Amino acid sequence: MSTLNVAIVGATGAVGTTILEKLLARKFPAKSIKLLASKRSAGVEVSVGGQNFTVEETVPESFDDVDIAFFSAGGSISKMFAEEAVKRGAIVIDNTSAFRMDENIPLVVPEVNRHVLTKDAGIIANPNCSTIQMVAALEPIREKFGLNRIIVSTYQAVSGAGTEAIEELESQANQFDNRATVEASVLPSAGGERHYPIAFNAIPQIDAFDESGYTLEELKMINETKKIFEAPSMHVSATCVRIPVVTGHSESLYIELDQEGVTTEELRAALADVPGLVVQDDPATQSYPMALYAEGKDEVFVGRLRKDPDHPCGFHLWVVTDNLVKGAALNSVQIAEHLVELKTTS
Ligand code: A2P
Repeated sequence: MSTLNVAIVGATGAVGTTILEKLLARKFPAKSIKLLASKRSAGVEVSVGGQNFTVEETVPESFDDVDIAFFSAGGSISKMFAEEAVKRGAIVIDNTSAFRMDENIPLVVPEVNRHVLTKDAGIIANPNCSTIQMVAALEPIREKFGLNRIIVSTYQAVSGAGTEAIEELESQANQFDNRATVEASVLPSAGGERHYPIAFNAIPQIDAFDESGYTLEELKMINETKKIFEAPSMHVSATCVRIPVVTGHSESLYIELDQEGVTTEELRAALADVPGLVVQDDPATQSYPMALYAEGKDEVFVGRLRKDPDHPCGFHLWVVTDNLVKGAALNSVQIAEHLVELKTTS
């Protein structure tokens, strides 16, 4: 069934490229796939899975006859074109933060809250990469034992900041002899006034600061989690840190369940055999998730499960996934697959 015309805005970027790969690998029922980017990339030839594509400049007319448009070119481009695309008949699956907290726009991780998707949706928001892996790992626990508090610290890969940040890490890593004076012009935040080296460093800033002292990335994690779990009174707090890893976000989670007396074994059992999750948790064999081994994989990996010795409801977990795959492209494609299911079963 090849019935849908698909467009990818930001198709030359880190996430856009992965969306195309996932659409092809998962045999998404697309009649055509249009690659859109900035004027700079118009005419560039792309070859994936034996198929050739030519990148086009994004203009309003790009969305005529498009059924599903994936957006991953930054919030300003989504604000400029997403509503236009919907006016022209497309459903937009947006990977930026432009619409996530709009109460009329569903924010979806299919394994957690696919029930909020409707087949007549206009814009659908894909959550922040760090939020997706956290809620995907916690949903089976929340469902079984209830969840009262989440405190998360992230260890985020540079690919989450786009291809420029990957290039910056690679070029700084090559300046190993002079590591204190490497040049920085992208991270921590492309539009920011100050830049710090990411190679041989850990930067406790992702995105700009809010007047509260939190960064926007931290606030995204807090607010998006409450929206997805439909739990405005859940206690959620975050510290987001960029580390010199190319791909794969890691997260240290501290959680408090609603129930006392749950054992680590019961928590592990709740996570076992859940589609999309892999438990890697065996200290005896030094088995735990690591970013390097999550790269290119679809699953969210969970390990280092431990009970807080001083709190009857407290647990620690370590959660890792490929931020470009489940953290972005795969989740978007899964949303699109669910829309196709909704349309074909109605
Ligand atoms: P381009 O390659 O033409 O600049 P990343 O976040 O990985 O760096 O990717 C950003 C994506 O957003 C790229 O595909 C980039 O295209 C695209 N992009 C940037 N500016 C625009 C624009 N004005 N219109 C459409 N796409 C854009």
